[in-house]
Amino acid sequence: MSHEADIHAELYRHVQNAIDDGFRPHGVNYTNATNEVNVSNGYADLVVEVDNEPFLVVEAKRDPVSNPSRDINPYSPEVVEQASSYAFKLGAPYFATYNGKRCVVYNTWERKRLMERKSRAYKVDSVPEFAQDLLSEVAGLESNNVDWDPSDEAFITRLDTFHTRLQSEFLDSLHQRLTNDEDFEKKYLRWVADQGWSERFDESEARVHNDFTAQSAYLLMNKLVFYKTLENADAYEPPEIELESLVDPGTRRAVFDELMDKIDFEAIYEQDEIFDSLPLTNTAQLEVQELLTELDDYDLDQLGGGDVIGDIYEGIIPEEERHELGQYYTPEPVTELITNLVVRSPDDTVLDPSVGSGGFLLAAYDQLKRLKEAMSLPATHQGLLNQMYGVDINRFPAHLSALNLALKDLSSETTDTGVIVEDFFNIRPGDERLAEAESAGTEGSGETFDIPRKVNAIIGNPPYIENDEIAEDVNCRGHMDRVGADLNRDSDIYSYFFTHSTEFLEEGGRLGFITSNKWLAIRYGVGLKQFLRENYRIKAVVKPQKRVFKGQLVPTCITILEKDKNPTRRDETVTKFMLVRERLNPEKIINILETDHDADILYEEDGFRLATKKQRDLDPEQKWTRYLFAPSEFWTLYNHSKMAKLKTISEDIGRGIGDTTGADHYFYLDEEEMEEWNIEDRFSPKAAKSITQFDGLEFNSQDSEIHYLDLYNFAEDYLHSDKSPPSEYREEVQRAEQEYINTLDDDEETPPHLSETEITVMAGLKDEGYPRTYEYLIWGVKEGVHTGKQCARRKYWFAVDDIPTTQLVAPKNIRGRPFFPTLTEPMPLGNTLYRVNLKNDEYRPVIAGFLNSNVGKMFFELQGTSVRGGLVELRSYELKDFSVIDPDELTNDEQQRIEEAFEEVKNVDVHEDEAPEKMLELDRAVLAPFGLEEKAEKIMEIATSLSQSRQLEQEFEVPVASDGEGGQGQIQDLSGSERIDGQVGLDQY
Ligand SMILES: C[S@@+](CC[C@H](N)C(=O)[O-])C[C@H]1O[C@@H](n2cnc3c(N)ncnc32)[C@H](O)[C@@H]1O
Repeated sequence: MSHEADIHAELYRHVQNAIDDGFRPHGVNYTNATNEVNVSNGYADLVVEVDNEPFLVVEAKRDPVSNPSRDINPYSPEVVEQASSYAFKLGAPYFATYNGKRCVVYNTWERKRLMERKSRAYKVDSVPEFAQDLLSEVAGLESNNVDWDPSDEAFITRLDTFHTRLQSEFLDSLHQRLTNDEDFEKKYLRWVADQGWSERFDESEARVHNDFTAQSAYLLMNKLVFYKTLENADAYEPPEIELESLVDPGTRRAVFDELMDKIDFEAIYEQDEIFDSLPLTNTAQLEVQELLTELDDYDLDQLGGGDVIGDIYEGIIPEEERHELGQYYTPEPVTELITNLVVRSPDDTVLDPSVGSGGFLLAAYDQLKRLKEAMSLPATHQGLLNQMYGVDINRFPAHLSALNLALKDLSSETTDTGVIVEDFFNIRPGDERLAEAESAGTEGSGETFDIPRKVNAIIGNPPYIENDEIAEDVNCRGHMDRVGADLNRDSDIYSYFFTHSTEFLEEGGRLGFITSNKWLAIRYGVGLKQFLRENYRIKAVVKPQKRVFKGQLVPTCITILEKDKNPTRRDETVTKFMLVRERLNPEKIINILETDHDADILYEEDGFRLATKKQRDLDPEQKWTRYLFAPSEFWTLYNHSKMAKLKTISEDIGRGIGDTTGADHYFYLDEEEMEEWNIEDRFSPKAAKSITQFDGLEFNSQDSEIHYLDLYNFAEDYLHSDKSPPSEYREEVQRAEQEYINTLDDDEETPPHLSETEITVMAGLKDEGYPRTYEYLIWGVKEGVHTGKQCARRKYWFAVDDIPTTQLVAPKNIRGRPFFPTLTEPMPLGNTLYRVNLKNDEYRPVIAGFLNSNVGKMFFELQGTSVRGGLVELRSYELKDFSVIDPDELTNDEQQRIEEAFEEVKNVDVHEDEAPEKMLELDRAVLAPFGLEEKAEKIMEIATSLSQSRQLEQEFEVPVASDGEGGQGQIQDLSGSERIDGQVGLDQY
């Protein structure tokens, strides 16, 4: 690490260079920079001049000589005081403290205490860039083009700095303890194992040490900050704390025990043996002392009621770690929106089953208070807290919510915050064990609290943990029978938060969650959709188009439900699907959602779009994302009488996956393998194995370089001919099998033997004069291909099945833009392709034309399922229900136009966007029968952007409808029936 002198010399050089290069940001005329300027009581490290007058003083002081390896703390009162005094004496209006990594700028004339001073903090990655930034930022402050950091942000930065520095001291303490204290080492390793981090530890001890000390430093910091807050608050009189007693973990414990005794707040001061076991180094003591002094003057109350503690936590605990716990803290507009829709009466009891840092309960606190005040009911701090319950599996976040809730009102004492540390799936309403659960509340009296049997409102942001990452000991399916739910086994964890919460909710009570929006579209959501339909009135699904969380990984939606036993009322509920394109404005959204609307309308304007459906028409099997995303043209077509489901005009649909070999590497051979084995032509036809083989829309054997081992017909014929191959050939086959068995280890089970039939047919191949194919099968047996699960199950391990002819091919999944090739001769299909055989082959060009037009591509994107890796999958039920144009409903001219347009595009390269004009003509031809010809360009754009956003795994930006039919500001009919009269005035928004 460089010396103090080097640090400011480097900054000086780059500042001077920028000034020499004529850098004059915001019209501020920088004239010079000087290194080491003599001031009456010492030397200022760097002085920057404007119009030849001192303007900015930078102090790059380092720590005491006793510990030269540490950076200075840019917030250290000593350093700030020194820099401020130089600037004052020189008459420079700004000064900054700087340690090579961080820099904080202050105003010289604001002679306030440190924590109250305006400041602006920077992290420095590259000094040359920072030199310019510094000049530009200070000039911006001077010309009012740059603002000082908001006070809470400055406070968080200050705490973040403290945390970083304390953590680095704790790392030293940790290393020392691990080296000198075997008992401690054992405890530490046990803790690592308990976290499930043993593997991580093996990979990188340093990373685990780092995470551990980050948490230790964080916990101690919380304790100190909270202590100071209480000290300043009227309702409390905490005993005094001496720095010396904090140094040693033992005496520190005694201090916190005393605090707990006197003022409760068990959640914060509770013993956490392993985290509390690091002594404070000398430097750490200095840091703590400085922080305590600064906090003397700081009023945490002034930070407003927001989730400051959550912000601090987000800033400090590494993102990856938070992700593992599914911890993302919910932004205020979301908590406010959900809470205000769900908590509706001043007496409501409220539960957040995954409370995190308590964002939702904070919003509920405000909402209950408002509701009470509006009715002139008393609203005491503890009274409000008594109506709220929170659960979190993790001590950290639960700790934060207890803190946040207590901070809501520091003028009254908090005795209990109703937050418990438990796995939500381990508790039941009124459960006995609940009373024993470790409390993160603040009661010190030993009293326990119960979640009542039922609450009126459930709100929250359940963790997003994928099905295969759900911890083994989380019993998320245990409640299924009790609530009559049957969720698919591959559901992600948030689905179970819906069902389990239902146990806790009063009839008529509401539930509002923000979760991943996967359940709306993906197969596993069917069970959940069914459950919601049978237990709730589904009031609204709101989808913020913009990501609402920092670091958010999955697209989300907000669901608002009302528990209702009455099936008629449920069926008659008009569900609102709202896509919000702008920043969430809770009030506006609530207004729209709380107004009555008729069912089956689609309304759009710049900021949002709204589609409504009667709950009874919401089919759990279908993708509800369509109501959010599908453009109005989709609905016009989807409901049109000239459309049909693919299954009604085809037979034998989807059977293509039947060509399952069980050993693709053996049954498919490329040209090189064919050269090596030289299998007789009769048994090695060309095959269509996967969609990647197709370049054009028409395909035949000439286009393929892949062969397929096809022995089914031979085998059947040979067997029925009653021929009998010579016994020496049969023995040869058996010897090959024995050779394979000999390769097995003693403890491996002997696989089932080749059947007599198989031996006969194999030997028959040689006898009939097909030695090449025979050799290939012998090799297969020696390699044990015949013992594979699927092969062993078949009549002949080497013969898959008869190969039906096919006309149209549909991909099971595709990464690029979707397309549907046609085969001009029968070919075996690989198991990533489906067969589509139309009842009437004459319709093939029309159907292929529709499917390969941009309309077909749009339907593929909206009817298929997006899966990880940017692919779109078409499941077999989706293929069967695929909407296509119905040739029977078209005039001859209409059919002919589509056929001709398709003829023009079928040879273009499907991977290139070739011939857009010809494609557009196909689109027009397909749209003409619906009177939508002029929408061709728009649909092309939508299909392209749907596909692009899916490939990039980004959310699809639904284009705002322009004017005209179904356009902006107009209401469109979603039902396919006649327009409904008397629409409730949506245009008021
Ligand atoms: C997305 S965060 C909630 C954020 C919170 N609503 C807020 O705004 O602060 C999800 C929380 O669920 C917790 N969690 C994960 N699994 C849980 C379980 N089985 N029971 C209860 N809480 C759980 C995590 O510890 C995390 O704090």
